[in-house]
Amino acid sequence: MAADIGVYGLGTMGSALALNLAEKGFEVAVSNREADWIGPFLNEAEGLTGAVRGYEDLMDFINAIKAPRTILFMIPSGAPMDAMIKEVTPLLSDGDTIIDGGNADFNDTRARTKRLEGTGVHFVGMGVSGGAEGARHGPSMMVGGSDHAWAQFRPMAEAIAARFEGDPCVAHVGPDGAGHFVKTVHNGIEYADMQMIAEVYGIQRDMAGMAPADIGAMFGRWADGPLASYLVEISHSVLQAVDAETGKPVIDVILDSAGQKGTGRWTVIEALKLGQSASAIEAAVGARGWSSQKEVRVAAQDVLESGASAPATPSEDDLASAMLAGRILAHAQGFAVLSTASEAFEWSLGMARIAEIWRAGCIIRSALLDEFADAFRGELPFGQMILASAMAARLESTVPGLRRVVASATLAGQPVPALSAALSWHDSMSRARGTADMIQGLRDYFGNHGFKRVDRDGDHHGSWG
Ligand code: 6PG
Repeated sequence: MAADIGVYGLGTMGSALALNLAEKGFEVAVSNREADWIGPFLNEAEGLTGAVRGYEDLMDFINAIKAPRTILFMIPSGAPMDAMIKEVTPLLSDGDTIIDGGNADFNDTRARTKRLEGTGVHFVGMGVSGGAEGARHGPSMMVGGSDHAWAQFRPMAEAIAARFEGDPCVAHVGPDGAGHFVKTVHNGIEYADMQMIAEVYGIQRDMAGMAPADIGAMFGRWADGPLASYLVEISHSVLQAVDAETGKPVIDVILDSAGQKGTGRWTVIEALKLGQSASAIEAAVGARGWSSQKEVRVAAQDVLESGASAPATPSEDDLASAMLAGRILAHAQGFAVLSTASEAFEWSLGMARIAEIWRAGCIIRSALLDEFADAFRGELPFGQMILASAMAARLESTVPGLRRVVASATLAGQPVPALSAALSWHDSMSRARGTADMIQGLRDYFGNHGFKRVDRDGDHHGSWG
């Protein structure tokens, strides 16, 4: 019997998705560039509802799939994906669909979609979130590409997706690169959320002198209320864990240098290209960069005098408020990037639906996402999430705590780049009169760039003398 879907690439994510599909009763054909990965995978798949068959030869793999075919590629993005498309497209027929489920740059996805136009083969860029565990038992998926491809893949996608109160966390968010773009912004928000968690951890560690397990307990206390989220939950676990080798808290044996694969950076780059600023996300990307300059920081500690004072350590309530306000503001920036991109690329992204498919399965899933979805379904001046009345009320009650946290941390010389970026954005947006009159004056003075006047229309210049 022909398979419902082909999965090519049996790394962690590919094999987890293939097992998930088989468990939901779909017949799955699998293949992998290194043929010796196929046997062990088939052993793992034994006993699942849907039959899984492995193929070493690409043509045999393709022939084993029901037409019109859906083939999910879970391989490294970039050049390997281009090489794969080149190899596989001549073997496919009209109406077949290639899905790239990796973390690809949406610009590449758009270029690939364009390249395949007219061949009859559909190309889908799909963001998959939730790590290996999510892929195996229920990821959140952000699907781009054509309606035809979505109609083909939809029953399978909805069957394997995570569910929030029965609603599958997958949607066809828009055409061509929309799926990968939404996933990129998801990751940008993930960076900001993690950075804010790390900043709160840093305050408790360095200002309050708390032990990791006690800081972990605090995150544990937050895991039930409005701050409930996957990342807060696992912060509790990470801080409680003990290193088997040394008996020390694991966190104390981890080097403070974080890696990055690029999606956070892409969010910032695309935001800037679109004339937006996702400053909390940018701060998080930047902080990862500084984290990897370990040697510079070690040297600078002895050279740079902080002039710090010793303010009172922020209360746990204020830290919780700071985290909540920061989370709302970082999401609002991410959604603003999405809506600008939606206009620029004519995607018609549905913000409420995007918030909904992030409510379960993905890394940034949190109690707030349901509230964000409601905000986008309701009255929303200028499409700005922070102006929804429920969000404005949440900010009104939490920003004072965020302000006290940023102020004390700053006085203490404790870095809070993401929290302070979020606060500055909030403060900039909540002032009807900003300070760009000064920028315009300077631009006109040195470059004759002109400015608008507050009292009449048209372009004007200053009488600078
Ligand atoms: C997810 C994650 C996943 C991956 C990130 C990590 O949604 O499941 O975002 O895609 O963990 O790519 O990115 P960095 O390595 O850049 O932190």
